[in-house]
Amino acid sequence: MKKLFLSLVLSVAPLAAFSAGGAVQLDHISTDLSDKASLQRGAQLYMNYCMGCHSLEYARYNRVARDLDIPEEIMMENLVFNDVNFGSLMENAMSEEDGKEWFGAAPPDLTLVARVRGPDWLYTYLRGFYKDENRPMGVNNVVFPNVGMPHVLADLQGLCAEQPHPVTDKRFDPLTGRTITEGGCEAYETEGMLTPTEYDNAMYDLVNFLEYMGEPFAEDRERIGWMVFAFLAVFLVIGQLLYRELWKDIH
Ligand code: HEC
Repeated sequence: MKKLFLSLVLSVAPLAAFSAGGAVQLDHISTDLSDKASLQRGAQLYMNYCMGCHSLEYARYNRVARDLDIPEEIMMENLVFNDVNFGSLMENAMSEEDGKEWFGAAPPDLTLVARVRGPDWLYTYLRGFYKDENRPMGVNNVVFPNVGMPHVLADLQGLCAEQPHPVTDKRFDPLTGRTITEGGCEAYETEGMLTPTEYDNAMYDLVNFLEYMGEPFAEDRERIGWMVFAFLAVFLVIGQLLYRELWKDIH
């Protein structure tokens, strides 16, 4: 028995080590798939800044447009930049070989990335680029060391001159107790068009969109769940009445 217990513990131990391995603290967000305006802004950011390298090849334009309440003309004219049909899969023209040659690693498809990495990781990643001249693209990332991706959002965020801190990592002066840093980027190498708060909000929308991508039916599932509860509640009353009627003469 002891041996069995020990082998069980040992088989789980590497998992525990794995989950503790991410030494970087992640900034937390609560995604909201019912916020259509946020999802639409996220889709717009994605189509403008990410689609050229990262496909969403398990999704179709028409399904996304329907789920996000985007009319067909607006979707096709403003968000789709290649020559495809409304019902096409969301693929792009970059081949894996080219991607590998240009960036050292091919940009992966991102349809399911939110399921794999989780929203907190993505949110921290997209806000975690900083200047590093030793890297081919001139940038590095706090949660993805030596990443092959360039900082494609630098015109919005600016380029952080040094490694940004997690927002949760507020630091205090030990003598006065005053806040020394609020977290985030403290010094910029180049300025961006957005303020840090505006950029954080934009990244929230983008991660919200990727979260929707990973589970497009999540909203439907919740709605159907409530309908099932409502049905059961009504049925409970009917069942109770029937029960009373049937047992009336026996008691
Ligand atoms: C110029 C091409 C390019 C663009 C544009 C681009 N990326 Fe990337 N991205 C890459 C490459 C290359 C990698 C692979 C990095 C590696 O493995 O070192 C990557 C990796 C990633 C990863 C990590 C995937 C994983 O789980 O390993 C995420 C997340 C990501 N990109 C999100 C985005 C988002 C969101 C955008 C739009 C704002 C974007 N990327 C735009 C090239 C690009």
